[in-house]
Amino acid sequence: MTDNNGINSGAQTGAGSTARPGDPCIMVIFGASGDLTKRKLIPALYNLAQDHLLNENFAILGVARNDFSADQFRDTLSQEIPKFLTTKVDPALWKWFTDRLYYLSGDFADPGLFQRIKQNLTEIDQKHGGKGNYFYYMATAPEFFAPVIQQLGAAGLTDEDQGGWKRVIIEKPFGRDYDSAKDLNKKVREVLSERQIYRIDHYLGKETVQNILVFRFANGIFEPIWNRRYIDHVQITVSETVGVEKRGGYYDHAGTLRDMVPNHIFQLISLTAMEPPISFDADVVRDEQAKILKAIQPMTPEDVLSRTVRGQYGDGVLDGEKLAAYRAEPNVAPNSRTETYVAMKLYIDNWRWADVPFYVRTGKRMPRRVTEIAIQFKRAPFVLFRKTSVEALHPNRLVLHLQPDEGISLSFGAKIPGTIVRMGDVDMTFRYDDYFGATPSTGYERLMYDCMLGDATLFQRSDMVESAWSVVAPIQDVWDALPPRSFPNYAAGSWGPRDADDLIERDHRYWSACSHPVQKT
Ligand code: BG6
Repeated sequence: MTDNNGINSGAQTGAGSTARPGDPCIMVIFGASGDLTKRKLIPALYNLAQDHLLNENFAILGVARNDFSADQFRDTLSQEIPKFLTTKVDPALWKWFTDRLYYLSGDFADPGLFQRIKQNLTEIDQKHGGKGNYFYYMATAPEFFAPVIQQLGAAGLTDEDQGGWKRVIIEKPFGRDYDSAKDLNKKVREVLSERQIYRIDHYLGKETVQNILVFRFANGIFEPIWNRRYIDHVQITVSETVGVEKRGGYYDHAGTLRDMVPNHIFQLISLTAMEPPISFDADVVRDEQAKILKAIQPMTPEDVLSRTVRGQYGDGVLDGEKLAAYRAEPNVAPNSRTETYVAMKLYIDNWRWADVPFYVRTGKRMPRRVTEIAIQFKRAPFVLFRKTSVEALHPNRLVLHLQPDEGISLSFGAKIPGTIVRMGDVDMTFRYDDYFGATPSTGYERLMYDCMLGDATLFQRSDMVESAWSVVAPIQDVWDALPPRSFPNYAAGSWGPRDADDLIERDHRYWSACSHPVQKT
């Protein structure tokens, strides 16, 4: 996040963007016939093109096993793109875009494919002027990440000696536990240097997630109270209404802990809890984030039993629609023990956060889609208002609403009009839409743009990934050793298992219930 493409002037999609276009380059997408490409990557690149943030000298080479021709690839994307864009397709722009689309089919295990990629890249580069700058996007199944990168290395396609930069974006999941993440890091580092590696977490592409840093560090009034003296606890909720959709095969082996916690949730924790960086240089910001991940208190097996909760949804109803149990989803084992819900209480062992609990919960098939961070402040030390019972005085709560109703709200007590002094809770609310309008974004725009400029601030470094997995390792171990006995333990369309309420209520605290969304006015 350097000055010329940092938070203030970065790749905001939407009118008024003043950022310069990305470098001339060619993007190679491995797994180009898959869902991610059509749903996110191509729409994001189109949005960048619309905002003049793609270089005139840009092209895409899609690579996948499907035996398409380049024309078929372009036709398929032309049919799909309207479904995944939030704006209408501009035919002239789409033509500009498809003139830069190429495709190669082949088997990722075949070294011959990588020779053909090399040949194709040379031709595309001559035509489009990519200046030898290539970035490879791993949108494949995770088992191909290391082999494809090794083949790229063997074919000399990651070599920067001949001029031009070479970068690799690696999708999540980065490993499935600490050992596999370490092993993947090792294999990737045998071919690439750390500065060529961009481990993506799409949460960091969300405007509202980036805004956590701006909110905390561009305003003077919050930082002085952002610590254990004033904050009682922090709650992070990532609830989804969707089930596992068509991803049962992947999900049943992953589960919510792996799918959400060491990546998305830990990004939110590190941005909320980190110390102010001394600059927005990639490594300076990531050093501060990494310190938080390293400071998350490791759990003993006893802690795992008392401070974590797992759940799996059974049948239920959401908005009047009957929903099937997780075990009845396609490609899920009928006796599956995989969790679809996780709640836990974490501590960060440093001076700022000692003894401040971070309650985290995330799950599928919840009643509402909500991602929010609620900062609950301590109560006023002394209650002056005799007519208002102490229980009725709620502590101040600052909520960062990350999605879908993006905004920030602060609740505080106010006098209810009348001759006697009584107090009630009121909200002060900011909505993104009111100030900035809605901007078409998939969340991937910023990340791909940053990669084209060589800015890795919003990508995960190897030490961050490994620290995150080491925090969840004891939980994985205890959960594997003690299979759940009561699954399914929450109804689809409910807020999760009763145990998750107990987890926080034992501490005389309550889930913020996401009952205070930022309402549209
Ligand atoms: C993905 C997970 O990384 O993030 C999914 O694999 C999850 O299971 C998704 O649904 C949530 O992302 P978002 O942007 O919809 O909050």
